[in-house]
Amino acid sequence: MLHAVEVKPDVYWVGGVDWNERNFHGYTTDRGSTYNAYLIMDEHPTLIDTCKPAFAGELLERVREVVDPACIEHVVANHVEQDHSGALPAICELAPNARIYASAPHGVSGLAAHYGDRNYVPVKTGDTLGIGKRTLSFTQTMMVHWPDNMATYSDIDRILFSNDAFGQHYASSKHFDDEVGLPEVLAQAKKYYANIVMPYSRHVQRALGALEGLDIDVIAPSHGVIWRSHVPEVMEVYERWSSLRPENYAVVVYDSMWHTTEAMAHEILEAFIERGVPARLFDLKANHISDIMTEVLTAKYVAVGSPTLNNGMLPTVAAFLCYLKGLSPKAGWQGRVGIPFGSYGWGTNGPDEVADVLATCGFDLALGTLSHQWIEDAASLEKLQEVVASAVGR
Ligand code: FEO
Repeated sequence: MLHAVEVKPDVYWVGGVDWNERNFHGYTTDRGSTYNAYLIMDEHPTLIDTCKPAFAGELLERVREVVDPACIEHVVANHVEQDHSGALPAICELAPNARIYASAPHGVSGLAAHYGDRNYVPVKTGDTLGIGKRTLSFTQTMMVHWPDNMATYSDIDRILFSNDAFGQHYASSKHFDDEVGLPEVLAQAKKYYANIVMPYSRHVQRALGALEGLDIDVIAPSHGVIWRSHVPEVMEVYERWSSLRPENYAVVVYDSMWHTTEAMAHEILEAFIERGVPARLFDLKANHISDIMTEVLTAKYVAVGSPTLNNGMLPTVAAFLCYLKGLSPKAGWQGRVGIPFGSYGWGTNGPDEVADVLATCGFDLALGTLSHQWIEDAASLEKLQEVVASAVGR
């Protein structure tokens, strides 16, 4: 078993490692995940967050390496979701007098709904808790990504316990960003942002503003590795991702029946590349929607293709668009160009339905829907080239 890990003097990682998690609410987690909890050994021992119920035993073993769990006086529950609060009953059984700090009102009401009446203490932004030499301060990070989310800052350690923010679904025997390597951690953080945090980007901007005054040396999230060497880098990408500023980049997503929509997808891909716009192609039969969303996060151009099947779009495309719609920022995709396309036999419903969903998501569809009847030919492919040329010129 991995042991408790000292993050800073008297601050320990004691979380759970979920090596085999492969699907987190529809998001493929190829590298598993961790549910990070942190134990601060001050005059009043304090536990920051817990873990999924199934990992309570693991967490308690790690706590016992440092202190008898009965000595825990405070538990900070930064977030109600069960991957971070699920071991609260196990902790409370061993430390029945521990006080549980959660945000007001949603944190406390959410915990009560899950675990019944306990020693909850509601806190809000600016509230502090002295635990000995250290003072913890709380910042509500509402809707990043639930109403109850908050972050906790330890002044002496200059650690921000950020909960889901800055996390990555990444299980490893390494615990720190510099041990894993920046490109790998950033790639995992980007997938996490795109699939969990993206719809709330406006709230992320607000939360970044609220955290601005803190002198942060370490960011200790509730999933994945701890940021100790690349704090400025992850703050910068969060600022960039949450701004939803697009990059000059195209994503082409499709499924096909008899290869016409596929031929259109390839033509659109080539048209972007020929005009100097980097582009990637995703056949929905071969790619998971959560990997595609990671690319959509920063793409200026999003082309989505479906032929017509049974008077509508293909179910694979519908599933992708349902996921895209759920993750689309509430304020829309300002400046992002959507390109619906696809083939049909006698009814254009397939590509038309794609267009309807892209419009609902907030893409700019000024270039129209590229529908083609039956088999592609030179003229229809040329038309796609022209549309991409006008898209790039926009
Ligand atoms: Fe990792 Fe919102 O829970």
